[in-house]
Amino acid sequence: MVNNIYYENKGENKDRSLRSKKIYLRGRDVYIYREVSSTNSIAKSLAANGAPDGTIVLSRFQTAGKGRFQRQWVCPPGKGLLLSMILRPNIDRQSIPLLTLLGGVVVAESIQRICGLKAGIKWPNDILINGRKVCGILAQNSFSRGNSEFVVLGIGINVNLNREQLPADCRETTTSLLLEAGFKVSRFELLKLFSSIWDRHYRCFLQSSHSYLRSQWLANNITLGREVSIKKDTHTLRGKAVDISPRGGLIVVFPDGSRNEYLAEDVSLGKEEYYAGFEHSKPSILADSKTNDEQKFSGPVS
Ligand code: BTN
Repeated sequence: MVNNIYYENKGENKDRSLRSKKIYLRGRDVYIYREVSSTNSIAKSLAANGAPDGTIVLSRFQTAGKGRFQRQWVCPPGKGLLLSMILRPNIDRQSIPLLTLLGGVVVAESIQRICGLKAGIKWPNDILINGRKVCGILAQNSFSRGNSEFVVLGIGINVNLNREQLPADCRETTTSLLLEAGFKVSRFELLKLFSSIWDRHYRCFLQSSHSYLRSQWLANNITLGREVSIKKDTHTLRGKAVDISPRGGLIVVFPDGSRNEYLAEDVSLGKEEYYAGFEHSKPSILADSKTNDEQKFSGPVS
């Protein structure tokens, strides 16, 4: 249902004069903008003013879209699904990073449902199709007196970009749903699917937390069992990704047998990571991690 009511956004300096259209989707408020600096910034400002769990901010274009590690997220107007969702889960602080993993699970399933493509999750939450990134997720937290006040889960999906519209410096490593599926995808249909799939997974996650998320994430991941490179300050570590920890960290085993947990590092998959159909590789990856690595690993590693 669309409401032709326009709202002034008062919180965000640069976006102060911007107006949004507000619609209701499956019981949640969705604020739709034409152009903002970053939907995450708008969502943070709405959240700080009390917007409820599940509120979504959507924009056709971002002038300063934020990526992980201070990178920019660039997408031409009207070609991507650029959204930020406000979350206020009643979970302990340690479990907050799991929300980004959950976002990855929901996006992967939404993509599969809308265009029949198998999308895989690269830890923690990049979504890849045929080895190329189609979606990135940036979660930002706000804490008050040590407790999580709210989380903003920012999601950028490349929907209808052609090859020339992808950022020139990463044309070989990124893609869009249009390029992979060969047909245009409705961003609004994708939003509706995302919204309903999110509700289902979020409910289960809140009920059973890590065990539920773990099984969902494992079923969609393309990271475990692969060689990974981890950027650490000025050097790069190479090992094998073997598991995710209860708090969503990546467990990596190194050639000398040592293992470590990584929580927010920049991880790349090795060259041999991409299989023509990764469906084929999944059972052995999971079998590997269960028989060898899962048994050895019992709890968070620091
Ligand atoms: C990454 O892969 O580095 C994360 C990219 C996240 C981009 C999305 S687009 C919508 C939301 N608003 C932002 O400013 N960033 C996120």
